[in-house]
Amino acid sequence: MKWRALVFVLAAAALCLGFGGGAREQSLRAAAQASGMLIGTAVRPADLSESAYASTLAREFNMLEPEDVLKWEVVHPERQSFDFSQGDQIVDFASRHGMKVRGHTLVWHQQNPKWLMGGNYTSGELAQILEKHIKTVVGHYRGKIFAWDVVNEAFDELQPGKLRSTIWRDQPGIGLAGNGSSYIERCFRWAHEADPQALLFYNEAGAEVVNPKSDAIYAMVRDFRQRGVPLDGVGLQMHIENLRADVASISANIKRFTALGVQVHITEMDVALPVDQSGNPRPEDLQKQADIYREVATACLSQPGCRAIQTWGFTDKYSWIGSHSKHTQGAALPFDRNYGAKSAYEALRNALAARRR
Ligand code: XIL
Repeated sequence: MKWRALVFVLAAAALCLGFGGGAREQSLRAAAQASGMLIGTAVRPADLSESAYASTLAREFNMLEPEDVLKWEVVHPERQSFDFSQGDQIVDFASRHGMKVRGHTLVWHQQNPKWLMGGNYTSGELAQILEKHIKTVVGHYRGKIFAWDVVNEAFDELQPGKLRSTIWRDQPGIGLAGNGSSYIERCFRWAHEADPQALLFYNEAGAEVVNPKSDAIYAMVRDFRQRGVPLDGVGLQMHIENLRADVASISANIKRFTALGVQVHITEMDVALPVDQSGNPRPEDLQKQADIYREVATACLSQPGCRAIQTWGFTDKYSWIGSHSKHTQGAALPFDRNYGAKSAYEALRNALAARRR
């Protein structure tokens, strides 16, 4: 029975070398590093005190993004005061662990404080308020936050290709209502003045595939680049629902944006699954979820200009999907509620380890 001994020795050797199915041979972080990729996740500072949360974060990721604490309602709670305490906690954690930080987000129609939304400010006042906000926040993190989502979700959900009506654009706006994307351009210029080194991104939902929304963003980005507006990248959020992802179209979209000379970051990936009342998904959906993580990661890795893949949280214990879907969806992330690696984790890591093609 010598062959049995031989098989045993070969299997043991394969496991040691890291070919073992399920063996945790390499972190996402190590695989990404070797491929020159950034692998990031959204973070809530309150969770950093949980040791499994903090150790998984430091081991698996080389980039972080504050999930909520750099949004206006947290960072700019009163007209005259800013509160950087929670953002600073994330930046400190990142610097202790050699990670980059993305900033999110300077201009959005959601999670704004009451003093702003209910203040009945004139366009002139709003322009001053917004310029001061952008310059103060970007200035505070100059040299610490390497990339910013300057403007988030400016295009409408219901009217394809149209800009959304917001306090910043036309309600009453910062004085550029009726001038298309000029108000967005102004925000990028202010951010660039505050930190000329930072990479400035336009971030959007529902524009992952080629569709009227991404067509409109493409036209805006091409125009900005042609006119020297300081825009360096496009963030594709990648919140995937119903286990549906048209990866061929996602690839084509990434390709056309990077061909304009801008970077693409996948900024908020999660793949929501239907869950039962205890929050458990169907086992067969976990494999489909893993396939989507792998295919999307591979689509990014195949384009040299696609530089970062970020998930919106990393453990199913803490994810916005639960409350967002009234708890009918969940289990959207690469780690389960006990920080165990799911099939999605293995798929993501294998895609990162396969390097750029
Ligand atoms: C979500 C956060 O995850 C939640 O904690 C918060 O309550 C609402 O916002 N697109 C974005 C993110 O750009 O900022 C949103 O984050 C999710 C959708």
